[in-house]
Amino acid sequence: MTLKITARAGNPLDVQDEPVVVAVFSLVPTKTGALPEPLRSIDKTLDGRLAKLIAKEEFTGKREQSLAMQSPTATMNGKLTIVGLGDAKQLKVGDLRAITAKIARAAQNEKATSLTLVLPDDLRDRLRTIGEGLELGAYRFTRYLTGDRKPKSSLEKVTLVFAGKFTAASKEELELGQRIGTAINTTRDLGNEPPNEITPRALTQAAQTVAKANGLKAELFDYKEIVKRGMKLVQAVGQGSENKPSFAHLTYTPGKKAKKTVVFVGKGITFDSGGLSIKPAPGMGDMKSDMSGAGNLVGLMAAVAALKPNVEVHAILVCAENMPDGGAYRPGDIWGSLDGKTVEIVNTDAEGRLLLADALAYARELKPDLLVDNATLTGACVVALGTTCSAFYATNDESAKLFAGAVRDSGEQMWRMPLLEDLKEGIKSDVADVKQAGDRWGGSITAALFLREFIGDTKNWVHVDIAGPAFLEKPNGWSPRGASGHGILTFLSLIESMEN
Ligand code: BES
Ligand code: MN
Ligand code: ZN
Repeated sequence: MTLKITARAGNPLDVQDEPVVVAVFSLVPTKTGALPEPLRSIDKTLDGRLAKLIAKEEFTGKREQSLAMQSPTATMNGKLTIVGLGDAKQLKVGDLRAITAKIARAAQNEKATSLTLVLPDDLRDRLRTIGEGLELGAYRFTRYLTGDRKPKSSLEKVTLVFAGKFTAASKEELELGQRIGTAINTTRDLGNEPPNEITPRALTQAAQTVAKANGLKAELFDYKEIVKRGMKLVQAVGQGSENKPSFAHLTYTPGKKAKKTVVFVGKGITFDSGGLSIKPAPGMGDMKSDMSGAGNLVGLMAAVAALKPNVEVHAILVCAENMPDGGAYRPGDIWGSLDGKTVEIVNTDAEGRLLLADALAYARELKPDLLVDNATLTGACVVALGTTCSAFYATNDESAKLFAGAVRDSGEQMWRMPLLEDLKEGIKSDVADVKQAGDRWGGSITAALFLREFIGDTKNWVHVDIAGPAFLEKPNGWSPRGASGHGILTFLSLIESMEN
């Protein structure tokens, strides 16, 4: 946790050198025109100047409408901002997380080191979301900035002001939210780190570090072990790089005997050049984020350790670098797999599904109640759903319903896509059991159909294509530019919904 968050009651403007943000629900007009608390008291302190400004700016408390006054009192040196939350009943979890994140981000951008945030008492049972939002909003990736470019200060302290009592339970919820936010920020760091630093080995080691810090089990397989175990498709993808593949298996086991087991698999391509089917130069650097599926699992496991659900959770990170080289795999190659099926390679840029195929074949041996993979898998998915929504596929409607419920609870955006059986035609091969990829049309679907070939007799499988939202060109909601950690919150909600 990077923020020290405390709570107090009392006069909101009782501060000196820090900004004060007052978040209010939509103002309901009254006959007398009186403002609701805490605006009424603040207005009194300001000799009616706030009421005048509210009237002049036609501030109604609509969501994200805001109003600001610089140094409003003799003692208060910072800015006073009133922010609208909109209608109380319509404030969804994602809205609240995005608003609190934006408040933290704005304070940070104004170089404030501390902030007072006044919230309606109704939000006292939503402190987990508030904790998440503040930590996520305060996130910046500044590791490689030096001299003048290095920020001199950062937001360190937030004081929440509530009218009512702040209990020990409130504090616990807030801290849980902060720990979840911090876990997501760890994933963001991994996605923003350059590919010369985050190699396959470095990524699995980061997972191991998180496991150790949180008392989770971690097993790491190096390249030799990967080859020995027969993960031939991982070998194919990774053999053309100096930075050889690496594999990690993390396990969270609850204190009480768990009824359910869920296994997550993540694609960890630390750099996707396309291999011999090389990608065009523009935007190639963004492919440092092609490890976001595996990166998500690092943050997810840290969050799981904080949440301590009564569900057994496994995270399988399959990591490699996709490079062109004398040792690289080629279009035309035929490779075996951990499953046993043979695969005809047609495009070395469709590498993610190959890694996942072996990882799914490994994961299914854990006999999970639900098997979930997540990957920045296809450009076609980004064309279909844009950059703020992931696609998910499910083998049956029950799994889809369970997963869609988790999506809703998390406030993230994901949309179900169909496993169209007629598109299987596209991955039929003349020379091997399956062809690695079909043609352009329905490219996200054929990728999912290819993966399905490797789940064995697993009944409940969900595949999530996070290619769009994993790495953002511009800030969205609680996510800044760059790596977002999109997916972690859904997976966490999913785990919670599987408890008992
Ligand atoms: N990592 C890419 C997919 C991707 C594209 C992720 C854009 C994020 C943003 C993946 O390995 C890839 O290159 N897929 C190809 C598959 C094709 C060759 C069948 C694609 O989508 O073009
Ligand atoms: Mn690729
Ligand atoms: Zn890729």
